[in-house]
Amino acid sequence: MTNFPATRGEGGKRMNTAAGEVGGRQAPGEWSAAESVVINRAVQNAPSVHNSRPWSLALRGRSAELRERPTLLVQHDPEGRDRRISCGAALANLVLAIRSLRWTAEVEFGSSSGLVTATVTATGRADPSEAERRRGAAVLDRWSCRRPFDGPGLPASTLDVLLEAIAAPGVTGRWVSGADEALGVARLLTYAGRVFRGNADYQRELSSWTTVTGDGLRREGLGERGLAAVGLTTGRTRLPDEHVLSARIQREAVLLVGSGADGPAEQIRVGSAVEQTWLEATARGLVVSVMTQPLHLAEVRSGLAAGLGFPGMPQVMMRFGRLAESVDER
Ligand SMILES: Cc1cc2nc3c(=O)[nH]c(=O)nc-3n(C[C@H](O)[C@H](O)[C@H](O)COP(=O)(O)O)c2cc1C
Repeated sequence: MTNFPATRGEGGKRMNTAAGEVGGRQAPGEWSAAESVVINRAVQNAPSVHNSRPWSLALRGRSAELRERPTLLVQHDPEGRDRRISCGAALANLVLAIRSLRWTAEVEFGSSSGLVTATVTATGRADPSEAERRRGAAVLDRWSCRRPFDGPGLPASTLDVLLEAIAAPGVTGRWVSGADEALGVARLLTYAGRVFRGNADYQRELSSWTTVTGDGLRREGLGERGLAAVGLTTGRTRLPDEHVLSARIQREAVLLVGSGADGPAEQIRVGSAVEQTWLEATARGLVVSVMTQPLHLAEVRSGLAAGLGFPGMPQVMMRFGRLAESVDER
């Protein structure tokens, strides 16, 4: 299945995400207190750049309006791309929460002062599909696992399911496969790690978002080894040797996710697709982490696209695996 069925309505701004008939009118009544809790909790638990949750959510009648907030990460995300990808992930959770409550969910996009809004309206009753049920149930279990992963790679059937989950209009995924691709990717990621580790302004901003407890980017969750170390390089990261990293990439399932175009709408779609895939993996007992840090360097994005023959604009790299029982020191 795709994350959102085909766009409908004028100007390509409306999407129907529910199975069954929808009339385009809001169902009468308003969210109950219990429904509001489910919806708020799901959105709150969406992944976001530096855990910044760059959105606001307002519930009215039987609709929910998600608004991009102008949270500024001048060093990490000067163009707001990660902010909109985060909003897309929150939108996926919002839709899944409404579907899990057995309402249809019709999404309409807008923008105000250059910031994206997405209004999700319940227009009637409809049971969630199996995939919606499975993914919706995984929303509170999803987390960023930046530890090394265990064992042999994932079976081809699982890779196929995850690739299918990422597919959405304008969004593509591509597995990194084979020794040559792994080494090419490892070289680009270690290069990016060196650039970010040596950038004092960048590191100052990153550490201001890093907290021991509380709501920021949790320090103890940051990866110190392997791919995760080059996924969010801090001033203290020991960068892995590129051949060691390449071997690790071959043992993990690494997916490059990109979009055909690179506007706000595509970034929102990428975020929704990433979250749908993350939840699908979580429901299957896998662990995941994502990285955009290296992709903020134009030369890394173009190097990945050229090296992998990737047709779109690389936006996010995802890694999937099983949690290691014992931690490999490399
Ligand atoms: C758009 C986006 C970009 C992200 N970029 C990175 C990254 O470059 N490196 C990384 O380790 N985690 C990255 N993350 C993961 C977030 O840091 C993580 O979702 C957030 O801290 C909340 O933690 P949780 O996923 O465990 O709930 C990103 C998440 C999103 C949605």
